[in-house]
Amino acid sequence: MPLVTTKEMFEKAYNGGYAIGAFNVNNMEIVQGITEAAKDLNAPLILQVSKGARAYANHTYLIKLVEAAVIETGLPIALHLDHGDSFEICKSCIDGGFTSVMIDASSKPFEENIALTRKVVEYAHDHGVVVEAELGTLAGVEDEVNVSAENSSYTRPEDVQEFVQRTGCDSLAIAIGTSHGAYKFKPGTKPQLRFDILEDVSRRLPGFPIVLHGSSSVPQEFVKIINENGGNMPGAIGVPEDQLRKAASMAVCKINIDSDLRLAMTASIRKYFNDHPDHFDPRQYLKPARAAIKDMVAHKIVDVLGCDGKA
Ligand code: G3H
Ligand code: 13P
Ligand code: ZN
Repeated sequence: MPLVTTKEMFEKAYNGGYAIGAFNVNNMEIVQGITEAAKDLNAPLILQVSKGARAYANHTYLIKLVEAAVIETGLPIALHLDHGDSFEICKSCIDGGFTSVMIDASSKPFEENIALTRKVVEYAHDHGVVVEAELGTLAGVEDEVNVSAENSSYTRPEDVQEFVQRTGCDSLAIAIGTSHGAYKFKPGTKPQLRFDILEDVSRRLPGFPIVLHGSSSVPQEFVKIINENGGNMPGAIGVPEDQLRKAASMAVCKINIDSDLRLAMTASIRKYFNDHPDHFDPRQYLKPARAAIKDMVAHKIVDVLGCDGKA
Protein backbone atom coordinates (compact mmCIF):
# COMPACT_ATOMS: atom_id res chain seq x y z
CA MET A 1 0.00 0.00 0.00
CA PRO A 2 1.42 3.47 -0.87
CA LEU A 3 1.32 6.42 1.52
CA VAL A 4 -2.29 7.50 2.08
CA THR A 5 -3.97 10.80 2.88
CA THR A 6 -5.84 11.23 6.16
CA LYS A 7 -9.29 11.41 4.50
CA GLU A 8 -10.45 7.85 5.04
CA MET A 9 -8.63 7.50 8.39
CA PHE A 10 -10.46 10.55 9.74
CA GLU A 11 -13.87 9.45 8.48
CA LYS A 12 -13.48 6.11 10.25
CA ALA A 13 -12.03 7.70 13.39
CA TYR A 14 -14.82 10.27 13.61
CA ASN A 15 -17.52 7.65 13.27
CA GLY A 16 -15.71 5.13 15.47
CA GLY A 17 -15.02 7.45 18.42
CA TYR A 18 -11.25 7.11 18.33
CA ALA A 19 -8.30 9.19 17.11
CA ILE A 20 -5.20 8.60 15.00
CA GLY A 21 -1.80 9.25 16.58
CA ALA A 22 0.38 11.77 14.79
CA PHE A 23 3.92 11.17 15.95
CA ASN A 24 6.91 13.36 15.05
CA VAL A 25 9.85 11.67 13.36
CA ASN A 26 13.45 12.84 13.19
CA ASN A 27 15.58 9.73 12.63
CA MET A 28 15.50 6.03 11.83
CA GLU A 29 15.12 4.71 15.37
CA ILE A 30 12.11 6.95 15.99
CA VAL A 31 10.44 5.84 12.74
CA GLN A 32 11.12 2.20 13.59
CA GLY A 33 9.92 2.42 17.22
CA ILE A 34 6.64 4.06 16.21
CA THR A 35 5.91 1.85 13.23
CA GLU A 36 6.78 -1.41 15.00
CA ALA A 37 4.21 -0.60 17.69
CA ALA A 38 1.58 0.31 15.09
CA LYS A 39 2.26 -2.88 13.15
CA ASP A 40 1.89 -5.10 16.24
CA LEU A 41 -1.41 -3.39 17.03
CA ASN A 42 -2.67 -3.02 13.45
CA ALA A 43 -3.16 0.73 13.93
CA PRO A 44 -3.39 3.43 11.24
CA LEU A 45 -0.68 6.03 11.61
CA ILE A 46 0.34 9.59 10.82
CA LEU A 47 4.07 10.26 10.77
CA GLN A 48 4.78 13.96 10.87
CA VAL A 49 7.83 16.00 10.02
CA SER A 50 8.45 19.51 11.30
CA LYS A 51 10.51 22.21 9.61
CA GLY A 52 13.16 21.48 12.26
CA ALA A 53 13.11 17.76 11.46
CA ARG A 54 13.61 18.51 7.77
CA ALA A 55 16.52 20.78 8.61
CA TYR A 56 18.00 18.12 10.92
CA ALA A 57 17.55 14.94 8.90
CA ASN A 58 17.00 16.16 5.30
CA HIS A 59 13.73 15.79 3.39
CA THR A 60 14.91 12.88 1.24
CA TYR A 61 16.18 10.78 4.15
CA LEU A 62 12.90 11.23 6.00
CA ILE A 63 10.79 10.38 2.95
CA LYS A 64 12.82 7.23 2.32
CA LEU A 65 12.61 6.16 5.98
CA VAL A 66 8.85 6.55 5.93
CA GLU A 67 8.58 4.71 2.60
CA ALA A 68 10.59 1.89 4.17
CA ALA A 69 8.14 1.83 7.08
CA VAL A 70 5.22 1.51 4.63
CA ILE A 71 6.92 -1.48 2.98
CA GLU A 72 7.83 -3.10 6.31
CA THR A 73 4.41 -2.68 7.95
CA GLY A 74 1.85 -2.66 5.11
CA LEU A 75 -0.12 -0.18 7.25
CA PRO A 76 -2.04 2.87 6.02
CA ILE A 77 0.46 5.62 6.84
CA ALA A 78 0.07 9.34 6.07
CA LEU A 79 3.16 11.52 5.83
CA HIS A 80 2.34 14.98 7.17
CA LEU A 81 4.14 18.32 7.36
CA ASP A 82 3.81 19.59 10.94
CA HIS A 83 3.49 23.38 11.43
CA GLY A 84 4.25 24.52 7.89
CA ASP A 85 4.68 28.26 8.25
CA SER A 86 4.70 29.36 4.59
CA PHE A 87 3.24 28.48 1.20
CA GLU A 88 6.76 27.59 0.03
CA ILE A 89 7.44 24.88 2.62
CA CYS A 90 3.98 23.38 2.04
CA LYS A 91 4.57 23.36 -1.73
CA SER A 92 7.97 21.77 -1.29
CA CYS A 93 6.48 18.95 0.81
CA ILE A 94 3.53 18.47 -1.57
CA ASP A 95 5.91 18.31 -4.55
CA GLY A 96 8.22 16.04 -2.55
CA GLY A 97 5.77 13.24 -1.76
CA PHE A 98 3.94 14.21 1.47
CA THR A 99 0.26 13.26 1.52
CA SER A 100 -0.82 15.87 4.08
CA VAL A 101 0.40 19.31 5.10
CA MET A 102 -0.37 21.71 7.91
CA ILE A 103 -0.35 25.39 7.15
CA ASP A 104 -0.05 27.06 10.54
CA ALA A 105 -1.01 30.69 10.08
CA SER A 106 -2.69 30.77 13.49
CA SER A 107 -0.49 33.62 14.73
CA LYS A 108 -1.65 35.86 11.85
CA PRO A 109 -4.82 37.96 11.84
CA PHE A 110 -8.01 36.06 10.83
CA GLU A 111 -8.15 37.35 7.23
CA GLU A 112 -4.43 36.64 6.63
CA ASN A 113 -4.82 33.15 8.09
CA ILE A 114 -7.72 32.54 5.68
CA ALA A 115 -5.87 33.89 2.63
CA LEU A 116 -2.69 31.86 3.22
CA THR A 117 -4.59 28.70 4.14
CA ARG A 118 -6.78 29.06 1.02
CA LYS A 119 -3.69 29.38 -1.18
CA VAL A 120 -2.16 26.20 0.28
CA VAL A 121 -5.47 24.31 0.00
CA GLU A 122 -5.81 25.16 -3.70
CA TYR A 123 -2.31 23.90 -4.48
CA ALA A 124 -2.62 20.83 -2.23
CA HIS A 125 -6.01 19.72 -3.54
CA ASP A 126 -4.78 20.08 -7.13
CA HIS A 127 -2.10 17.52 -6.16
CA GLY A 128 -4.26 15.11 -4.15
CA VAL A 129 -2.91 16.28 -0.79
CA VAL A 130 -5.00 17.21 2.27
CA VAL A 131 -4.54 20.28 4.46
CA GLU A 132 -4.74 20.87 8.21
CA ALA A 133 -5.16 24.48 9.34
CA GLU A 134 -5.21 26.10 12.78
CA LEU A 135 -7.40 28.63 14.56
CA GLY A 136 -6.44 29.81 18.04
CA THR A 137 -2.92 29.88 19.46
CA LEU A 138 -1.28 27.26 21.65
CA ALA A 139 1.31 28.19 24.24
CA GLY A 140 4.73 26.53 24.13
CA VAL A 141 7.71 26.01 21.87
CA GLU A 142 7.64 24.79 18.25
CA ASP A 143 10.65 25.30 15.97
CA GLU A 144 11.82 28.87 16.56
CA VAL A 145 8.35 30.08 17.61
CA ASN A 146 7.89 30.41 21.37
CA VAL A 147 4.40 31.47 22.46
CA SER A 148 4.04 32.49 26.11
CA ALA A 149 0.96 31.45 28.08
CA GLU A 150 -0.20 35.12 28.10
CA ASN A 151 -0.08 35.29 24.30
CA SER A 152 -1.92 32.03 23.74
CA SER A 153 -5.65 32.16 23.04
CA TYR A 154 -8.47 29.63 22.89
CA THR A 155 -10.19 29.05 19.57
CA ARG A 156 -13.37 31.13 19.17
CA PRO A 157 -16.12 28.67 18.13
CA GLU A 158 -18.01 31.47 16.36
CA ASP A 159 -15.13 31.72 13.83
CA VAL A 160 -14.78 28.10 12.78
CA GLN A 161 -17.60 27.73 10.25
CA GLU A 162 -16.56 30.78 8.25
CA PHE A 163 -12.90 29.71 8.42
CA VAL A 164 -13.52 26.18 7.16
CA GLN A 165 -15.96 27.32 4.47
CA ARG A 166 -13.67 30.02 3.11
CA THR A 167 -10.43 28.03 3.24
CA GLY A 168 -11.67 24.57 2.20
CA CYS A 169 -9.27 22.98 4.71
CA ASP A 170 -9.70 19.27 5.46
CA SER A 171 -9.12 19.34 9.23
CA LEU A 172 -8.79 22.01 11.89
CA ALA A 173 -6.41 22.27 14.84
CA ILE A 174 -7.99 24.12 17.76
CA ALA A 175 -6.68 25.53 21.02
CA ILE A 176 -8.52 24.16 24.08
CA GLY A 177 -5.74 24.31 26.66
CA THR A 178 -3.05 21.97 25.37
CA SER A 179 0.41 23.39 24.64
CA HIS A 180 3.70 22.30 23.15
CA GLY A 181 6.66 20.92 25.06
CA ALA A 182 7.13 19.26 28.46
CA TYR A 183 6.10 22.20 30.68
CA LYS A 184 2.42 22.61 29.92
CA PHE A 185 0.85 23.52 33.25
CA LYS A 186 2.05 25.28 36.37
CA PRO A 187 3.04 22.82 39.12
CA GLY A 188 0.25 22.57 41.68
CA THR A 189 -2.52 23.52 39.24
CA LYS A 190 -5.08 21.04 37.91
CA PRO A 191 -4.85 20.63 34.11
CA GLN A 192 -8.30 20.90 32.52
CA LEU A 193 -9.02 21.01 28.79
CA ARG A 194 -11.91 23.20 27.60
CA PHE A 195 -14.34 20.52 26.46
CA ASP A 196 -17.05 23.16 26.21
CA ILE A 197 -15.11 24.78 23.34
CA LEU A 198 -14.56 21.41 21.64
CA GLU A 199 -18.29 20.63 21.91
CA ASP A 200 -19.28 24.02 20.57
CA VAL A 201 -16.82 23.72 17.64
CA SER A 202 -18.04 20.25 16.71
CA ARG A 203 -21.70 21.36 16.89
CA ARG A 204 -20.89 24.04 14.33
CA LEU A 205 -18.86 21.64 12.14
CA PRO A 206 -20.73 18.34 12.21
CA GLY A 207 -18.62 15.43 10.92
CA PHE A 208 -15.52 17.61 10.53
CA PRO A 209 -12.19 16.26 11.90
CA ILE A 210 -10.61 18.25 14.71
CA VAL A 211 -6.90 18.09 15.62
CA LEU A 212 -5.22 18.49 18.99
CA HIS A 213 -1.61 19.64 19.11
CA GLY A 214 0.50 19.69 22.24
CA SER A 215 -0.95 16.44 23.52
CA SER A 216 1.94 14.81 25.32
CA SER A 217 1.15 13.67 28.83
CA VAL A 218 4.70 13.90 30.21
CA PRO A 219 4.58 10.63 32.21
CA GLN A 220 6.17 11.30 35.57
CA GLU A 221 8.01 7.97 35.65
CA PHE A 222 10.11 9.16 32.69
CA VAL A 223 10.76 12.57 34.23
CA LYS A 224 11.89 10.72 37.37
CA ILE A 225 14.30 8.48 35.43
CA ILE A 226 15.74 11.53 33.66
CA ASN A 227 16.16 13.42 36.93
CA GLU A 228 17.71 10.40 38.66
CA ASN A 229 20.25 9.99 35.90
CA GLY A 230 21.78 13.42 35.63
CA GLY A 231 18.84 15.33 34.13
CA ASN A 232 17.11 18.40 35.48
CA MET A 233 13.43 18.68 34.52
CA PRO A 234 11.52 19.77 37.61
CA GLY A 235 7.94 20.90 36.97
CA ALA A 236 7.50 19.01 33.69
CA ILE A 237 3.74 18.41 33.50
CA GLY A 238 1.50 17.26 30.61
CA VAL A 239 -2.11 16.72 29.58
CA PRO A 240 -3.90 13.99 31.60
CA GLU A 241 -4.42 10.95 29.41
CA ASP A 242 -8.04 10.45 30.44
CA GLN A 243 -8.86 13.88 29.01
CA LEU A 244 -7.18 12.97 25.72
CA ARG A 245 -9.13 9.72 25.62
CA LYS A 246 -12.32 11.71 26.08
CA ALA A 247 -11.32 14.11 23.27
CA ALA A 248 -10.59 11.10 21.00
CA SER A 249 -14.12 9.80 21.62
CA MET A 250 -15.48 13.18 20.47
CA ALA A 251 -14.67 15.07 17.23
CA VAL A 252 -10.89 14.91 17.70
CA CYS A 253 -9.48 12.61 14.99
CA LYS A 254 -5.76 13.45 15.19
CA ILE A 255 -3.69 13.77 18.37
CA ASN A 256 -0.13 15.09 18.08
CA ILE A 257 2.54 13.57 20.28
CA ASP A 258 6.22 14.43 20.18
CA SER A 259 7.52 15.37 23.63
CA ASP A 260 6.54 12.02 25.18
CA LEU A 261 8.67 10.22 22.58
CA ARG A 262 11.57 12.54 23.36
CA LEU A 263 11.18 11.83 27.08
CA ALA A 264 11.04 8.05 26.54
CA MET A 265 14.12 8.12 24.36
CA THR A 266 16.09 10.47 26.61
CA ALA A 267 15.20 8.58 29.80
CA SER A 268 16.37 5.35 28.22
CA ILE A 269 19.66 6.80 26.99
CA ARG A 270 20.42 8.65 30.24
CA LYS A 271 19.82 5.49 32.26
CA TYR A 272 21.83 3.42 29.82
CA PHE A 273 24.89 5.64 30.17
CA ASN A 274 24.58 5.74 33.94
CA ASP A 275 24.44 1.92 34.02
CA HIS A 276 27.15 1.45 31.37
CA PRO A 277 29.60 4.35 31.57
CA ASP A 278 32.18 2.47 29.48
CA HIS A 279 29.93 1.78 26.47
CA PHE A 280 30.27 3.81 23.30
CA ASP A 281 28.65 1.79 20.51
CA PRO A 282 25.53 3.79 19.47
CA ARG A 283 23.67 0.57 18.69
CA GLN A 284 23.91 -0.44 22.34
CA TYR A 285 22.05 2.61 23.64
CA LEU A 286 19.82 3.26 20.62
CA LYS A 287 18.35 -0.23 20.72
CA PRO A 288 16.70 0.21 24.15
CA ALA A 289 15.83 3.80 23.21
CA ARG A 290 13.96 2.53 20.14
CA ALA A 291 12.21 -0.09 22.31
CA ALA A 292 11.18 2.67 24.75
CA ILE A 293 9.58 4.59 21.89
CA LYS A 294 7.79 1.45 20.76
CA ASP A 295 6.39 0.87 24.28
CA MET A 296 5.29 4.49 24.58
CA VAL A 297 3.50 4.43 21.21
CA ALA A 298 1.83 1.10 21.98
CA HIS A 299 0.50 2.57 25.22
CA LYS A 300 -0.83 5.66 23.39
CA ILE A 301 -2.51 3.56 20.69
CA VAL A 302 -4.30 1.31 23.16
CA ASP A 303 -4.97 3.53 26.18
CA VAL A 304 -5.29 7.04 24.73
CA LEU A 305 -6.16 6.95 21.02
CA GLY A 306 -8.20 3.74 20.87
CA CYS A 307 -7.09 3.06 17.27
CA ASP A 308 -5.70 -0.46 17.78
CA GLY A 309 -7.11 -2.90 15.24
CA LYS A 310 -8.41 -0.06 13.03
CA ALA A 311 -5.90 -0.21 10.15
O1 G3H B 1 5.03 21.09 17.65
C1 G3H B 1 6.23 20.93 17.54
C2 G3H B 1 6.81 19.56 17.44
O2 G3H B 1 7.02 19.02 18.71
C3 G3H B 1 8.03 19.57 16.59
O3 G3H B 1 9.08 20.13 17.30
O4 G3H B 1 9.86 21.91 15.77
O5 G3H B 1 11.36 20.98 17.57
O6 G3H B 1 10.80 19.60 15.54
P1 G3H B 1 10.38 20.70 16.49
P1 13P C 1 3.83 17.81 22.36
O1 13P C 1 4.97 18.76 22.57
O2 13P C 1 2.82 17.92 23.45
O3 13P C 1 4.28 16.42 22.15
O4 13P C 1 3.07 18.27 21.01
C1 13P C 1 3.55 17.89 19.75
C2 13P C 1 2.87 18.61 18.66
O5 13P C 1 1.85 19.26 18.81
C3 13P C 1 3.48 18.51 17.32
O6 13P C 1 2.83 19.32 16.40
ZN1 ZN D 1 2.02 21.11 17.22
